[in-house]
Amino acid sequence: MNAPAQAPARFCLEVSPAPCVLVFFGATGDLARRKLVPSLYQLETRGLLHACSRIVGCGRSPHDDTSFRALIAEALPDVAPAQRDAFLNRLSYVRTDDTDPATFTRLAEHLAALDTLETPAPFNRLYYLATPPASCQPLVTRLAAAGLLTETPGSDAWRHLALEKPFGADTASAAALDAFLHSHVREDQIFRVDHYLAKDTVQNILMLRFANILFEPVWNAHYIDHVQITVAESVGLENRAGYFEQAGLLRDMFQNHLLEMLALVAMEPPATFTADAIHAEKKKLIQAIRPFLADALETCVVRGQYAAGKGLPGYQDEPGVRPATQTETYVAAKLFVDNWRWHGVPFYLRAGKRLAVRESEIALVFKPVPHSMFDPAAPNTLTPNTLTLRVQPQENVNLLLQAKLPGPKLCIGDLPLHFAFSDLGAWDAPDAYARLLLDVMLHDHTLFVRSDTIAAAWQLFTPVLDVWRNAPETCPLHTYPAGSEGPDAAADLLARDGRAWRTEV
Ligand code: BG6
Repeated sequence: MNAPAQAPARFCLEVSPAPCVLVFFGATGDLARRKLVPSLYQLETRGLLHACSRIVGCGRSPHDDTSFRALIAEALPDVAPAQRDAFLNRLSYVRTDDTDPATFTRLAEHLAALDTLETPAPFNRLYYLATPPASCQPLVTRLAAAGLLTETPGSDAWRHLALEKPFGADTASAAALDAFLHSHVREDQIFRVDHYLAKDTVQNILMLRFANILFEPVWNAHYIDHVQITVAESVGLENRAGYFEQAGLLRDMFQNHLLEMLALVAMEPPATFTADAIHAEKKKLIQAIRPFLADALETCVVRGQYAAGKGLPGYQDEPGVRPATQTETYVAAKLFVDNWRWHGVPFYLRAGKRLAVRESEIALVFKPVPHSMFDPAAPNTLTPNTLTLRVQPQENVNLLLQAKLPGPKLCIGDLPLHFAFSDLGAWDAPDAYARLLLDVMLHDHTLFVRSDTIAAAWQLFTPVLDVWRNAPETCPLHTYPAGSEGPDAAADLLARDGRAWRTEV
């Protein structure tokens, strides 16, 4: 007789936050409109947004509550109109301009009025700056001057500030930004967002590594040949020239998303699943990355920019881009982590825009078996074991093994063990931003970036930016056709080590 199917064992813990007023600057911009506010709606549909919580949009655009609600409604699913309309009723709009202090007085009055609307006043408040990096200091200055960042002594109501990356543009500017922020708020009031950290598949790195006994014994230089981390995008600039021309890909994605994933893959096990313990290990790991040698940069860092290809315009033809700009849209690098665990193991990282496919993954390629009894006449024909953590577009985990295949007695080949998150019935992953907004309301910094790890990341990459700026001829900007795999020089980076970028999972 078959035993009844058992639900898989699970340990889930979700906490509902207290009431909060969430104030979004840049509220009519793409990020707030398409990601942040819709993520709050996801929380609402899961019963994780307190009934008294309110959402205030702020920006320079001349909206009122009605037109702001209509704008947001466009980005919400309309499967449950009554629930959607109830959610939209939580929204209001205040026009603010950081050059006009009176607009912040009006915002303060509006927020004070919201506090009197419901019983558990005064509310907690989150100020989320979904604005370009240059707006951060003016906005924080205005918020502080209007008294909006001050927590009332004796009250539990908190004031949190959420900031989007990049945090500074190099070591000096990041330190100056920190000093400025700390002159207005405590470190624990600041939530620095790197949305990659909140993707379920990225969170899974810690679970996979530290909730299983299988991996840790082989997760080191004795067994791992090399690691590849890829974040490839098929999209181009998407009308963000104003920001991207200042940032470039290294600041936009490499110094944060890729380095954070590297830190999670390579760090030592934290003793507890807490923000401080995790951040401390990440910082130690980033500090252990071998500094790039300025006079041999080209041997370990490749930068590129897309040219026209496959009917798509080149970067220099995108609207708003400066003529003859040297801004990079692609970076590949080879890094070493100088500690016992990773001695001699190369980490190859690459990220770029307008590549052939959208694909983010982390692949740990294991060493070959020390002796193959199966094919002594043709050694090294066995594919090395590879563990791939696929972040997007599909979210899955693959372990490539060698196994007996049907056929002759000696018939051996690849056996991929495959797990897709979509196989988990009812898999309905909330957007990364829903997780982040929930955690800001819960005062949980685990999935945010701490200022000292950012400083360590800038210590690593500022010398690269310096060489690009001061001695560009020593590390030229390679071009690659839009829709291709990236510059040839990136392939050479691995070819010199007798390796190649992975092309499929
Ligand atoms: C952002 C970058 O942080 O991440 C964008 O600023 C990039 O340039 C985006 O397109 C990619 O995010 P995702 O979640 O679509 O991979």
